[in-house]
Amino acid sequence: MKSDYMRKKFIFKTICFIIMICLLIVIEKKIKHSNFITTLHRTDNKEQGDVLHYDAAAKQDASQFSVSLSGFYFDNPTETRQIGRPVSITDSNSNMFYSVNYPEIGIAHIDEVLRNDVQEELSKFCSGASGYIADNDSMRIGLTVDYCAYLTGDSILSVVYNIIYDSPEYTNPLQTVRTHTFLLCTGKEIGISTLLSGDYLQYLSDSVTGYLASDPELSLTMNDSAYSEKYEPDEINFKNFAFSKSGLTLYFDPYTIAPGEFGIISVPINAQDIMPFIIYDPFKESNIPYTPPAETAPPVIQSEIDPSKPMVALTFDDGPRGESTNRILDVLENYNCHATFFVVGTNLSKYPDTVKRAAAMNCDIGNHSFGHAKLSTLNKKGIKAQFSKTNDILKKYINKKAKFVRTPYGQTGNILKHVNFPVILWNVDTLDWKTLNAKKVIKAATKDIEDGDIILMHDIYNSTAEAVETIVPKLLSQGFQIVSISELFKYRDVTPKKHKVYFNLKP
Ligand code: NI
Repeated sequence: MKSDYMRKKFIFKTICFIIMICLLIVIEKKIKHSNFITTLHRTDNKEQGDVLHYDAAAKQDASQFSVSLSGFYFDNPTETRQIGRPVSITDSNSNMFYSVNYPEIGIAHIDEVLRNDVQEELSKFCSGASGYIADNDSMRIGLTVDYCAYLTGDSILSVVYNIIYDSPEYTNPLQTVRTHTFLLCTGKEIGISTLLSGDYLQYLSDSVTGYLASDPELSLTMNDSAYSEKYEPDEINFKNFAFSKSGLTLYFDPYTIAPGEFGIISVPINAQDIMPFIIYDPFKESNIPYTPPAETAPPVIQSEIDPSKPMVALTFDDGPRGESTNRILDVLENYNCHATFFVVGTNLSKYPDTVKRAAAMNCDIGNHSFGHAKLSTLNKKGIKAQFSKTNDILKKYINKKAKFVRTPYGQTGNILKHVNFPVILWNVDTLDWKTLNAKKVIKAATKDIEDGDIILMHDIYNSTAEAVETIVPKLLSQGFQIVSISELFKYRDVTPKKHKVYFNLKP
């Protein structure tokens, strides 16, 4: 009796389960089917399909098309809005009005760029408008943002924003043009140099000249060097551009290449004319499938040091400082790495907390003299004092003295006999003090780095701190372990010798 009941219960449960599975399959098919229909509809929509893209796709397997572009929105495409779903933000009151329009393409990171641009414009306008009081309706201030969106081939998206500020203060509304161009296969925003090569800048410049010369009124302004320098062959002059199936269009704000009364000037260049300069052919019906950018790999956090694997030592001179040194310590802490700080004695009393923090994190504190003195100008007593004074202060703050010295200016020679410590110099100089440029420092500290290198930086610059935020994860991802100088000696099984100079510790 009991087993009969159990059996019935089991059969009932099984039937329920099967019905549920069937339902799920049906629902999923419906969703897929509806997507497919929408895509086909777009593809077949020939009267609106005045877009190369649709023609290209129509020749291909429709299902492949739905795979490669199913992530994108095509809401009522027109000649100037070939892709995207229009979004409007509007508001008005007695003082102001705005109407901000932008496209949603359907790819999150492209949409973020497009949305952020107009939202920044809007918040700028709103903060300006907050204090403004209009006398009457015609005195209101206003912001209008409109856009065009062009799809070329199926690989290039260009969005052109036309931004108009209205104010009773202006005789004419203030107009600005701003463009964004993306490579759809990567989702990356690109500049014109990604698409064109060779002597294209000269060609663009000549095209503008030709365009102006062909207009009787515009040609009159061509002798003004204030205008003509804005279309000289320099990439910065052609930052506003859009590709469309008819070719390339360059845009210029009012007052840049001609007097303001001409408004925004757009210079069209035919597809076939620009073709000789094209690297990445957007006009080709290539159907490169959209592949979302690879998820950034989770950061490599340093674990136990493996002596058999490559290691490098990051060393920082001339500190400590407050903000920049702490920023570097934050990075080292996040990635569980140790570096070496060669401190200057006179800075210690200014930033005792920083040096205490570095020491507590098991970073090495090295001695970079008391007053960054040029040791070759000092006698034996003077040289010894430079290091003993700093070590006395270190003893007070971190309860230990520095074991390593870095001589100011990397001096060596005769002075070494008075330096009663191992002297740690470097073999990779980032020149961070000279360039003050994070990008250049990153390059110097991550390119052609070898096992055992000692890399020189200065923790007193924010540009260096900014660089370290990239250098540490980059070196780790290249397979390096980041170690302090004492760790480097320990894992290389080398005993540091007094008066001796070390530039690196290669295996
Ligand atoms: Ni120095």
